[in-house]
Amino acid sequence: MPDITKPILEVKNLRTSFFTDDGEVKAVRDVSFDLYEGETLGIVGESGCGKSVTVMSILGLVQRPGRVTGGQVLFKGKDLTKVTPEELRHVRGRDIAMIFQDPLSSLNPVLSVGYQIDEAMYAHDAIKHDDIKARGVELLEEVRVPDAVRRIKDYPHQFSGGMRQRAMIAMGLSNRPQVLIADEPTTALDVTVQAQILELLRDLNQNTGTSIILITHNLGVVAGLCQRVIVMYAGEIVEEGTAEQIFENPQHPYTWSLLRSMPRVDTSRRERLKSIEGLPPDLIAPPPGCKFNPRCPFRIEQCFTDDPLLEPVGDDGRHIAKCWVKMQRAYAEMGAATLTDTRPGAASGVRPPKTLLEKVEDSREIEPDTEVVGDLRGT
Ligand SMILES: Nc1ncnc2c1ncn2[C@@H]1O[C@H](COP(=O)(O)OP(=O)(O)O)[C@@H](O)[C@H]1O
Ligand code: SF4
Ligand SMILES: [Mg+2]
Repeated sequence: MPDITKPILEVKNLRTSFFTDDGEVKAVRDVSFDLYEGETLGIVGESGCGKSVTVMSILGLVQRPGRVTGGQVLFKGKDLTKVTPEELRHVRGRDIAMIFQDPLSSLNPVLSVGYQIDEAMYAHDAIKHDDIKARGVELLEEVRVPDAVRRIKDYPHQFSGGMRQRAMIAMGLSNRPQVLIADEPTTALDVTVQAQILELLRDLNQNTGTSIILITHNLGVVAGLCQRVIVMYAGEIVEEGTAEQIFENPQHPYTWSLLRSMPRVDTSRRERLKSIEGLPPDLIAPPPGCKFNPRCPFRIEQCFTDDPLLEPVGDDGRHIAKCWVKMQRAYAEMGAATLTDTRPGAASGVRPPKTLLEKVEDSREIEPDTEVVGDLRGT
């Protein structure tokens, strides 16, 4: 079990922006979280909500016009936003490894897979040079590439997509990092291979105690793998908790919506997947108040003016959510359990204030006289 008294990575008030011709895109807005020794932490959210930029910021990989504009990233007590580029390069290959969605773009096509894995080890001096050759084969075996002795001489294009992702994981693990960050590692793969790679990550976490951050837009992927989950929306953490808290008792309407849109094994394949109404906001000028208000079925008037804080829900202090209403109230007062109409404001009957309404030309907005479940107008 992870030791929750020992954070190996502490992200504090991280902010990252892209300075574009259209304005400042605030992609990561005051994000704070800890990663504990030996845990697998999931970061979920729709595409574009800031998951990748968050981890790129941790590793100093944000490219211009992007820049970390504030906050700290403490790795074993040292602030990675303050170290030299040289020091950071070492941390990246040796202490914190990262694997991406598309391994082909990270592997060099003209060098054999084995050569590239060896190079990763030579570059950081974490492994005795005499041991490197043997370790290359061992690593490929560890990530279950069949016939590793022969395949290590292959070039990336001779590997299938799944095998390439295994090779990337092998390379990432080569220097025995303490943290592995996997950004959508299975998105490009078919379902069977996806499951194999996820199993590999689970074994790795259990057998070596490597802490893992697993990023995905798919809550199903984190279900079997992560002990804790962070939900991001519009560059912010909107909910965080143990996997059980997030899956059994989600408190943020966005998490609730994501879970509703998850394919379930026990429903008929023909039943249409319910997606979340609308799109994430523009990160240059998001709506005032809660950034989820244009899409939220449970919004109240306050949501259009005041931005809620992330605050504890429940007693253990580990479950936090950023919402004025929270699902416990939505269930008690707005009929969330049986809600079929999930358009913005449908459960509460609350429409955007007039000043904002002029800007909303969305036909999915509820009509003012729509009958609501539980009357929350004016609360
Ligand atoms: N190079 C860039 N220039 C401008 N904006 C960017 C750039 N890269 C990312 N962004 C912004 O950052 C937001 C978050 O992106 P990202 O972290 O990649 O999302 P995801 O959650 O899908 O990983 C995007 O919605 C986009 O607005
Ligand atoms: S109820 Fe309000 S604060 Fe909570 S998610 Fe919906 S819009 Fe945001
Ligand atoms: Mg991403």
